[in-house]
Amino acid sequence: MAVLALAMLALWLDLRAHALPLAATFAAASAAAIAVSARTRPRDQRRLDDAAAAAAALAAGRFDARMEVRADEYAELAAALNAAAARTQALVGALRQERAQLEALLNAGSDAIIAVDADGAIVYMNDGARAVFGTAATPGRPFIEVVRDHDLNDVVIAAARRGERSVRVVPYGAAQRWLQATAVPIERAGAWAALAVFHDLTEVRRLDSMRRDFISNVSHELRTPLAGIRAAAETLQEGALDEPAAAREFLGHIQREVDRLTQMVEELLELSRIESGAAPMSFRQLDARSLVDDAVERFSRQAERAGLALHARTGDAPLLVYGDGERLERALGNLVANAIRFTPPGGSVTVAAAAAGADVVISVEDTGVGIEPDQQRRVFERFYKADAARGESGVGLGLAIVKHIVLAHEGTVGVESRPGRGSTFTVRLPRR
Ligand SMILES: Nc1ncnc2c1ncn2[C@@H]1O[C@H](COP(=O)(O)OP(=O)(O)O)[C@@H](O)[C@H]1O
Ligand SMILES: [Mg+2]
Repeated sequence: MAVLALAMLALWLDLRAHALPLAATFAAASAAAIAVSARTRPRDQRRLDDAAAAAAALAAGRFDARMEVRADEYAELAAALNAAAARTQALVGALRQERAQLEALLNAGSDAIIAVDADGAIVYMNDGARAVFGTAATPGRPFIEVVRDHDLNDVVIAAARRGERSVRVVPYGAAQRWLQATAVPIERAGAWAALAVFHDLTEVRRLDSMRRDFISNVSHELRTPLAGIRAAAETLQEGALDEPAAAREFLGHIQREVDRLTQMVEELLELSRIESGAAPMSFRQLDARSLVDDAVERFSRQAERAGLALHARTGDAPLLVYGDGERLERALGNLVANAIRFTPPGGSVTVAAAAAGADVVISVEDTGVGIEPDQQRRVFERFYKADAARGESGVGLGLAIVKHIVLAHEGTVGVESRPGRGSTFTVRLPRR
C-alpha cells in the first residue's frame, strides 16, 4: 500500500506540467484499492473503500477530499494520501493565484495582447484585444479573419511560423488608428506559438503632429514682424534717418511690429501657463454683472473710436460664479476686442450676463462680419484665423486663451454666427 501511495505522490509532484495524468493517477489508485478489496476482510474492506472514495474525489478535482486517519495498518496509507492531497490542493491554489495575477497583469494596460498557435489561430486574448479588434475576436478563430489586415497578420505569422521577432507600425481599421504591433515567438508553451502586443500610437502621433504644427505656426508668425522690423531698419539706415518725417514713420512701424511680437509672446506664455496648469488660479466668488460692466467700461473709448455702440445688459439679481477674476476679465476682454475689431463702423456690440438653469451665461454679441459655418468651430484653435481676418494684425491666439480659461473654470464656450450679420460668443459658467 505504501508503495502505491508513494507512486501517487511522485506523480502528483509533476502536477504543474500534467493535469490529466494527475486525475488518471487518482483514478488508478481507487481502481487498485477496489481490486484489492475482492480478497479482504470486511474491516479492511471499509478502510479500502475510504481510500478509494478519497482517491476518486481527488481524481474528480475535489482536492479537499481526505482519508480518515486511524491507528491501524492503513494509517501510513491515509497519511501519505492526505499529505499528497494537501500538497496538490496547495499547488492548484497557487497555480490559480498565479493565473489570476497573470490575467490581471495582461489586462492592466490598454494594450491589446493575443497569443496564436502555429496555424495563426487565436488561443488567448486580453480585454484590450477585445476592445481593439471587436467581438469577432474569439479564441479558435484565425487571426487574419479577425483583423482583416495583412500587415498586422504578417507580423504575427512571422513569429508563429518562422520564429521571427518583428515590430511594425500600421494604420488600422476604418478609423485608421496607428497600431504598433510587436510579435515574439514562444518556445515550449504548448499551443502558444507566438505572442503579439498591439500598442495604440494614435494619440502620441497626434500630439507629435500638433507640436510640429505649433512650432511651424510660431515660426511663421514670428517671421512677418521680424521681416517688417528689418525692412524698416534698413530703410532708416539707407537714408530715411535724415528725413525726420520718414524716420518717424519707420520708427512707428518698428514700434508696432515690436508690440505685435510682445503681445504674441505674452499670449503664448499665458496659454502655456493655463494649459499646463502651472498658472496659479485664485478663485473667489464673483458677480458676473460686474465682469460685464467692467469690460464695457474698459472698452468704451476703443468702441467709440471704431464708431460702434457698446452696451452692457444685465439684470437686477446677482449672478454669482466662482472664478479667477483676472482671468475671466481677460477672457471677456478678448471677446470684446474681437467683436470691436470685426464690426464695421455704425454697428453695435452688446455684452450681457444672464442666469440659465444652473449656469451663468455671459455673451458678447456683435453686428459685424460674422464667421462662415465651417470655420466657427475652428476659431478656438490656436493660430486659427478665419478668412475674413487674414491680413489683420492678430495671430489667432485670443480665442484659444478664452477657451482654456473657461475650461479651467469647468465652463464651456461657443459661438453662433451668420456671415455678414454678426456673431455671438457665449461663455457658460457654473453658478455658485
Ligand atoms: N466677433 C468676431 N466676428 C468675426 N470673426 C471673429 C470674431 N471673433 C473672432 N473671429 C475670428 O476668429 C479668429 C480667431 O480669433 P482670435 O483667436 O481672437 O485671434 P485674433 O484676434 O488674433 O485674430 C479671428 O481671426 C477671426 O477670424
Ligand atoms: Mg483676438
